[in-house]
Amino acid sequence: MKNIGLIGLGVMGKSLALNIENKGFDISVYNYTPEETRNFMENEAREKNISAFYDIKALVSSLNKPRKIFLMITAGKPVDSMIQKLIPFLDKGDLIMDGGNTYFQDTARRIEELKGKGIFYLGIGVSGGEAGALNGPSIMPGGSREAYDLVKDILLKIAAQTEAGPCCTYVGNGAAGHFVKMLHNGIEYGIMQAMSEVYDILHRVLKLSTEEIGDIFETWNGGELNSYLMEISYKIMKHRDVKTGKATVEMILDKAGQKGTGKWTAQTSLDLGIPTPTLNAAVEGRIISFFKEDRTSLSKYVDKKYPEASYDKEKLVAKLEKSLLFTNFIIFSQGLWLIAEASKEYSFDINLSETLKIWRGGCIIRAKMLDELRKIVDEDKENVNLLNNKRSMEFLMDKLESMKDVTNIAKDFYIPVLVHNTALDYFYSMVAENLPANLIQAQRDFFGAHTYNRIDKEGIFHTTNWE
Ligand code: 6PG
Repeated sequence: MKNIGLIGLGVMGKSLALNIENKGFDISVYNYTPEETRNFMENEAREKNISAFYDIKALVSSLNKPRKIFLMITAGKPVDSMIQKLIPFLDKGDLIMDGGNTYFQDTARRIEELKGKGIFYLGIGVSGGEAGALNGPSIMPGGSREAYDLVKDILLKIAAQTEAGPCCTYVGNGAAGHFVKMLHNGIEYGIMQAMSEVYDILHRVLKLSTEEIGDIFETWNGGELNSYLMEISYKIMKHRDVKTGKATVEMILDKAGQKGTGKWTAQTSLDLGIPTPTLNAAVEGRIISFFKEDRTSLSKYVDKKYPEASYDKEKLVAKLEKSLLFTNFIIFSQGLWLIAEASKEYSFDINLSETLKIWRGGCIIRAKMLDELRKIVDEDKENVNLLNNKRSMEFLMDKLESMKDVTNIAKDFYIPVLVHNTALDYFYSMVAENLPANLIQAQRDFFGAHTYNRIDKEGIFHTTNWE
């Protein structure tokens, strides 16, 4: 009998199956299209302790009780339909795990639906792409602790390992795992956009070649900006297109795709009333990039007057390093605030410090900065807005002048830096004792009698004679 079953032999599913087998567990696999299963068994899984099944009943029958089944299939309807196919063969106490990028509200619904049948369900965030799934991803399981305990031995072993331990922990109740994965991706969008803005400035202001930008990214990766995304970006910068001999990245059309997790993050922040403008701007950046034809035709109308001054390369590179640190810190702080608020709202009971720990290895947003963030979180567990911390403010203030210079230079060169700008404006808003929201309140009261509060006395007021 097998320890675990895995359904879905796409890139992530195959890699995860091999990882599970490699850690000494007996695994059964199934895929919707039998050709894919055969192909897997004849190639990657050849001579591995992996058993393939071509119908669901046989797969389920091959498993030890309580059965544990990992779904690595496309999020959305396919998950519901697979659950329906599994139910007739499952018993009370069996466990289904969804390792896809599922919208957390779908996971919450499925947990409830299956609870009625006595079947456990975990929503599991899995990050790290193909290499991560194979060698050790960051794993974010959410659901009941009882369900987690059934499978934690396997999850802890297949996760990435760091000095601080495995990059897997019980994230929290209900849909906590998929919620944290959604925020991981919202942060991922923000950091990727911020890096692409810096790349644009290095290209267009300093006129550096892609190779030279790669060298700068490589140097940064050796310092405070050390991260997986920085590492892959310097490698990307140095990659040459075989056909043209040019840098491959320069041959790629500038339209960014997306599968929904960044958008859900933005939608959730609006629903919960927690400000994440920088994460949201990253989604907008991808959306705007899609309008290539409009951008191309409109670009002809702008008569660009560039500054005469030339910039000292070393100085500007140093400023950009700081502006990126500032922006990344703001991105993380917004994301963590939203997690903390959602944890209260949905009773997830998420531990922010543990979340940062399991993001330290295996996942796409793993970065040196997470160590500093963890110290800040650990200093005051009740503080959900990381800006309310001396260490945070010192970190940001040290970089503020660079941030101002970088965003100003971008404006002078007509370079859009949506994420940098919103990071700075968010910071300015959060440190502004007075915001002009008084005018908005007056306007609301003028046209709709929406009332307002006063600064000099308690109560609700309405002005009847605005004219
Ligand atoms: C990860 C990634 C992974 C995937 C994203 C990409 O953590 O391993 O986030 O989940 O690459 O889905 O998302 P977009 O297609 O929306 O950029």
